[in-house]
Amino acid sequence: MVKDLAVPTQAYLGGQWYAAPRTFPVRSPYSGEVLAEVADCGEAEARLAADTAVEAFRTWRKLTGFERGRILRRWNDLLIAHQEPLGRLTALEMGKPITEAKGEVLYAASFVEWCAEEAPRIGGELIHPRFSHKRQMAVYEPVGPVYAVTPWNFPTSMITRKAAPALAAGCTVIVKPAEQAPLCALYLAKLWEEAGGPPGTLQVLPAADPVPVSRVLMEDPRIRKITFTGSTPVGKLLYRQAADTLKRISLELGGNAPFILFEDADIEKAVQFTLLSKYRNTGQTCITTNRIYVHRRLEADYAQALAEAVSRLKVGDPLDPSTQIGPLVEEQGLQKVVAHVEDALAKGAQVATGGRPLGGLFYAPTVLTGIKPGMRILEEETFGPVAPLMPFEDEEEVIAWANNTEYGLAAYIWTRDLGRAFRVAEALEYGIVGVNDPVPSAMGANLPFGGYKSSGLGREGGRWGVEEFLETKLISIALP
Ligand code: SIN
Repeated sequence: MVKDLAVPTQAYLGGQWYAAPRTFPVRSPYSGEVLAEVADCGEAEARLAADTAVEAFRTWRKLTGFERGRILRRWNDLLIAHQEPLGRLTALEMGKPITEAKGEVLYAASFVEWCAEEAPRIGGELIHPRFSHKRQMAVYEPVGPVYAVTPWNFPTSMITRKAAPALAAGCTVIVKPAEQAPLCALYLAKLWEEAGGPPGTLQVLPAADPVPVSRVLMEDPRIRKITFTGSTPVGKLLYRQAADTLKRISLELGGNAPFILFEDADIEKAVQFTLLSKYRNTGQTCITTNRIYVHRRLEADYAQALAEAVSRLKVGDPLDPSTQIGPLVEEQGLQKVVAHVEDALAKGAQVATGGRPLGGLFYAPTVLTGIKPGMRILEEETFGPVAPLMPFEDEEEVIAWANNTEYGLAAYIWTRDLGRAFRVAEALEYGIVGVNDPVPSAMGANLPFGGYKSSGLGREGGRWGVEEFLETKLISIALP
């Protein structure tokens, strides 16, 4: 099936399709079948990619923003034209239900479109001088070659969210895609080539083991920036590694998003909200609702309505357009979900619906009630289709519970009280707060995305995302 999609399986290095000496298998999480054998890059390929990215940077940075923008615009158009095959590829390699997967391709394209438009606007500022004989300006320049490490859960959009602003700014980019989903990354490289992207500006190095590639690129002082989406432990490791060469760094890491459902909520709308914020991508989004605090007055009605709606979610083949819940991406992810539910049940939680593996990498969409402090499911990111419900009575207390985590990526509230909406949104220590909005990042190429505390550093999206790839240079001219 992957063959029909004309997906490259070699690495994309220096504008060439490069057959690495080794390959690794990419498996469908749905059927377990090997979809493709993909180039397995290591230190030698990483060194070559670094040399090429440095060389390509010399000329790419000198193009005008208009010229870079035109290439990005063509990339955007190609992405949209290839929505169908890229959507299928996403469903095949990481199990995202096809309807969502096709939506993700448009989300991916939206970052490219936005950055195509931003590229000519990256300028600088004239500064009002302190001394009358001086003329002073701040000039924005690209930081240099960038190393981007991207995740499997959004295998197209998390690449364009990093690569598009970097390329718009004049940086060159080496992408190391997640080993679970490298095919979408290679497909994006193919479209970049077709769009006229110059050799070496965007390179893709799949690797079964990320360590050798990362070691070379993190140690190379010519690579000036690392941008990463993934787990907090790996993000902290990269942060430490970046210190030796003082690379700029952007990190989009783990979360533990609370959803607070206040007593003035409409139950039916709150259920629809939960389906989107909890079960999208089978619960495998960084901003997924991880724990639900429901006001005690609504608890029973909401739990019942949610359990009914969740039990109707269609679980199945990601390529079937009626599927709403696909498989988890890998065994390790499934085992974490199993362990969190078992721990909660052992400590007194009850299953309102689901609560069991369904065979293969499937886990039944689940609602748990009777959740209490001390359960793992409240403290760790589950990354699966499980909604744990815990009652609360007091606004101040629930805000304290919501903030009682090392993470701070996304938080959600539902209320019709405007005063409370602002009060609580301001009190939550999170980079993203959705007030009655279950998908605050939807098509959000224009929005800042990123976390507080152990959820990361820097922001992606909008002008903030472009600024991450710019240096600010002062030019000060003293008039003779
Ligand atoms: C993520 O899981 O990091 C991406 C979610 C989004 O952009 O909506």
